[in-house]
Amino acid sequence: MSPTIAHALAWAKSILASAGSDSPSTDARLLLAHVLGKDQTYLYTWADKILSDRTYVDFQHLVNARQQGEPVAYLLGYRDFWTLRLAVNPSTLIPRPETELLVEHALGRLSEDASSLCDLGTGTGAVALALASERPDISVTGVDKVAGAVQLARQNAIVNQLINVQFLQSDWFGALGNSQFNLIVSNPPYVEEGSPYLEEGDVRFEPRSALISGKDGLEDIRHIIGAAIPYLQAKGWLLLEHGYQQGKAIRGLFAHYGYTAVETVQDYAGLDRVTMGQRNTCE
Ligand SMILES: C[S@@+](CC[C@H](N)C(=O)[O-])C[C@H]1O[C@@H](n2cnc3c(N)ncnc32)[C@H](O)[C@@H]1O
Repeated sequence: MSPTIAHALAWAKSILASAGSDSPSTDARLLLAHVLGKDQTYLYTWADKILSDRTYVDFQHLVNARQQGEPVAYLLGYRDFWTLRLAVNPSTLIPRPETELLVEHALGRLSEDASSLCDLGTGTGAVALALASERPDISVTGVDKVAGAVQLARQNAIVNQLINVQFLQSDWFGALGNSQFNLIVSNPPYVEEGSPYLEEGDVRFEPRSALISGKDGLEDIRHIIGAAIPYLQAKGWLLLEHGYQQGKAIRGLFAHYGYTAVETVQDYAGLDRVTMGQRNTCE
């Protein structure tokens, strides 16, 4: 006979804990709520309810896949980011909570009369869509070089009913023509080739194209900082998310290319996470 909700959760929690999950209880609850098509409150309210055989089999499949390391977001097919629910798939990175810091600082640097912004390496569209939802008066462009990511971002815009955003397939600035933006934002790949981080947890399942950027992890960031200037309006801002040990090198790159008001801000763990600079109007 199939177990109750409480027993199924206890079983899954112990399997996932022994497989090394950082959050076995949360993972178990998310997966069971998903197969039941309910929210997590239902699991507490109906803890003694016996699962149907079909539900239990589906739940076991998901728990086994999670035990093998498959990210919960890929198993559910979505990840919540900012105020949005975003579809995810293996064409791009699963949005991270720390990237909300990039959104917060971008919002803080968009003046009231700003009219356009661009998100480079948009992936699921997370940053572009969060900004588009907060500033419906602004025209948002998101680009990614991976066709599957562009398709996913477009789907996420439709599902979230955001109409002030367009997505283009582009190798960084390649498809942007003569466009100029009040602000450019990017969470580009910034992991060094061969980093042990690439062999850890969920990252093992994410595409290398979303993660790796040359020997020092700075290849794409170097390119973006140098190439962004003609795409920024006078006093336009460039904001980049990066690794916690890269702040100093990135401030140096911003300074080298003549940006002003260069600043790094820390995430909630106190680690360098976002560096920004403003296009120098005297060029
Ligand atoms: C770290 S992921 C960030 C995804 C998303 N912005 C987020 O924060 O969740 C980097 C993204 O950059 C894209 N990318 C990598 N190289 C690129 C390039 N040359 N031009 C445009 N996009 C690129 C990848 O496909 C990936 O979607």
